[in-house]
Amino acid sequence: DDPAKLAAFQVRIDAGEKIEPKDWMPEGYRKTLIRQVGQHAHSEIVGQLPEGNWITRAPTLERKANLLAKVQDEAGHGLYLYCAAETLGVSRDEMTEMLLDGRMKYSSIFNYPTLTWADMGAVGWLVDGAAIMNQVPLQRTSYGPYARAMVRVCKEESFHQRQGFHIMMAMVNGNAEQKRMAQDALNRTWYPALMMFGPSDKDSVHSSQSMAWKIKINTNDELRQKFVDETVPQAEYLGLTIPDEGLTWNEETGHYDYTEPDWNEFFDVISGNGPCNVDRLSARQKAWDDGAWLRDAMTAHAAKKATRNLA
Ligand code: 3HC
Repeated sequence: DDPAKLAAFQVRIDAGEKIEPKDWMPEGYRKTLIRQVGQHAHSEIVGQLPEGNWITRAPTLERKANLLAKVQDEAGHGLYLYCAAETLGVSRDEMTEMLLDGRMKYSSIFNYPTLTWADMGAVGWLVDGAAIMNQVPLQRTSYGPYARAMVRVCKEESFHQRQGFHIMMAMVNGNAEQKRMAQDALNRTWYPALMMFGPSDKDSVHSSQSMAWKIKINTNDELRQKFVDETVPQAEYLGLTIPDEGLTWNEETGHYDYTEPDWNEFFDVISGNGPCNVDRLSARQKAWDDGAWLRDAMTAHAAKKATRNLA
C-alpha cells in the first residue's frame, strides 16, 4: 500500500472516524476484517446448534419460547454480520465455502456438547455473558458496518444472558439433583467460556495490528479478566463453585487471580479436534446441501425476472 495513503488512513483511525465500505482502506485492514467479521457470523450460526438441540426438550412452554426466541435472534445476528462482511467484497457463498472447508473458523465454545437442560442455563449465563463482554466494545470498532451491526446485536444479547441466568436460578433453588446439574454445567462450561476471548495476549497474532486499527478495542486478556471479575460474584449468588482452585481475590490489583485455561486444549479445539467439531461442520454441510435446490430456484427466478424486465 502507498505509505502516504496508509498514513492518512491511520490519522482517520486515530481521530476515531468510521471507515465506510467505499472509503480507501489498506488491503490488510480489509483482509483481517473479512476474517474476523466472517468468523463472528459463522459463530452465530454454528452457535444455534448446541441450543437448538434443547428446543424440543425444554421443560416448560415458557422456557421453550425463550430458547426459540434466542436461537432465532442468533440467526439474525449471523445475517447482520454476513451483510457487514459482504460490504468488504466477499460473498456469503465464499464465506460458507471457507467455513465448510476449514479455511474459516467459528468460536471454539460451540465445539462442546450440551448434555443437560442446565447447560442451557450455563450457555446463556456464561457464553452470552462472555459474548456481551466481547461485543460491547466492538460497537466502537472503526469499521462502520461492523460497529452498527454490533449495536443491534448487543441490544438482544442481554436478554440471552438473563434468560440463561434465570434458568440457573431455578435449578439452584430446585432439588438436590437440579442443583447438582447446575454445578455440573458450570464445571463443564467455565473454561471453554474463558477460551472464547482468544489466546493470551502474548500468543495473539492479530491483536497489535487490530488494536492499532481499532478493530480490537481491548486485548483478549483484558476482556477475559473483566468477565472473571463480573461473573465470580454471580456464581457466589447462585451458591455455585467456580471450578478453579486457584481463583482468589487480589486486594492489590482489585481483580481475581485465576488459573489460565489449558491452551493445548484451546489450540486443539480451534484446529478441528474438539468434542463436537465434526458434528457441527457436518450439520452445516447438510444445511448447505439441503438448501441447494432453493438457491438454484431463486437464481433461476431472478434470471427469468431480469430477462422479462429487459423484454
Ligand atoms: N474460537 C475460535 N478461534 C479463535 C478463538 C475462539 N474463541 N479465539 C481466537 N481464535 C483464533 C483467531 O481467529 C486467530 O485465528 P485466525 O487467524 O485463523 O482467524 C487465532 O485464534 C489467533 O487469535 P487472535 O487473538 O490473534 O485473533 P483475534 O485478534 O481475531 O481475536 C477474537 C480473537 C477475540 C475472537 C476476535 O476475533 C473477536 O473479537 N471476534 C469477534 C467476536 C466473536 O467472534 N465472538 C464469537 C463469540 S460467539 C458469539 O458471539 C455468539 C453469541 O451469540 C454467543
